[in-house]
Amino acid sequence: MAIILGIESSCDETAAALVTSDRRILAHRLAGQEEAHRPFGGVVPEIAARAHVEALEPLIAGALEEAGLDLADVDAIAATAGPGLIGGVMVGLVTAKALALAAGKPLVAVNHLEGHALSPRLADPALDFPYLLLLASGGHCQLLFVQGVGRYRRLATTIDDAAGEAFDKTAKLLGLGFPGGPAVERAAALGDPKAVRLPRPLLGSAEPHFSFAGLKSAVLRARDAGIHRTEDLAASFQQAVVDCLIDRTDKAIRSVTTESVRVERSRDTFRSVPPSLDFARDEREVTALDVARDERKPTALVVAGGVAANGPIRAALQALAAQHDLPFSAPPLWLCTDNAAMIAWAGAERFALGLTDPLDIAARPRWPLDPDAERARGAGVKA
Ligand code: KG4
Ligand code: ZN
Repeated sequence: MAIILGIESSCDETAAALVTSDRRILAHRLAGQEEAHRPFGGVVPEIAARAHVEALEPLIAGALEEAGLDLADVDAIAATAGPGLIGGVMVGLVTAKALALAAGKPLVAVNHLEGHALSPRLADPALDFPYLLLLASGGHCQLLFVQGVGRYRRLATTIDDAAGEAFDKTAKLLGLGFPGGPAVERAAALGDPKAVRLPRPLLGSAEPHFSFAGLKSAVLRARDAGIHRTEDLAASFQQAVVDCLIDRTDKAIRSVTTESVRVERSRDTFRSVPPSLDFARDEREVTALDVARDERKPTALVVAGGVAANGPIRAALQALAAQHDLPFSAPPLWLCTDNAAMIAWAGAERFALGLTDPLDIAARPRWPLDPDAERARGAGVKA
């Protein structure tokens, strides 16, 4: 059994957690920065980075105290090394490096998206690879075939806004405040999802991707028409998001359960290579075992990321999984939004495989889970 200290600082939550390789969460602490960013209606990178500097050290000390542990008791130190706001990522990663050096512990540089992608396995010991994952957060909206630690095939991404970004922008348009997702969900609970006709971008389209920018613009026009209740606008928007997520996820389930999954040379994208170095160095040959594993059908439909905290979205995905006779897995709500337990857990999974990193590893503002994925066509493609 290994004990991992996890650190998260890639956006506007500063967090530290202690998690064991046998899935015990010994302590998890989190400091949000909502008040600091509220006047600006969104996250200001410089304010976030400074807040991380102030908050992180007491959070780590508090987590260790709560767990009754000393740094010497920890087996490895894991920190988000990207993607995210570079100032914040550097604060967490440099802190982790300093602690690793001082205590003589291995460092694990974790991709934040891998933190989300593996978080369901922390909560659900029965969840085995491979699984189909909808990863929906403030910065990403992707469907991934999760084959193993460090082994992801991206089936779809957004061609413009992320799902959480659409919630945040809609909340701003409707004057519901920041952060937007929970505010829209609360307002939507009091509204009629059929009250306002809104578009479902790419619904039924042959391509696998998501799009949310047009939906947000339609909310703006409907608001300006001045005839709808805010609650009805929120409920209709949320229903449109649900319909898009379900349609695209249904398409992905069909693609991975009807065809056998394409077996590719797979490379572990999370080895300790700064972007300037050649990734090929870290490619692993596909072994017979890998091939057998990759050809298996998904064991479950899984959702993760901040948007996975949304009740109607979880319920609709659960129903979709049932239609396809697939088990459904979603982390508890607190584990969906950014936290350090998921970073510690991804660290534990990597540490168990011997995947540690050197102290000169670079922070990466962009870091795709599947570097082989084709670029999606679209005006504002981000991932
Ligand atoms: O995963 P996360 O905490 O941070 C990123 O990695 O982006 O996701 C934050 C996003 C925000 O856009 C937030 O509005 C959205 O998740 N979110 C929600 C809910 N809770 C958080 N969206 C819809 N419904 C919610 N209940
Ligand atoms: Zn996140």
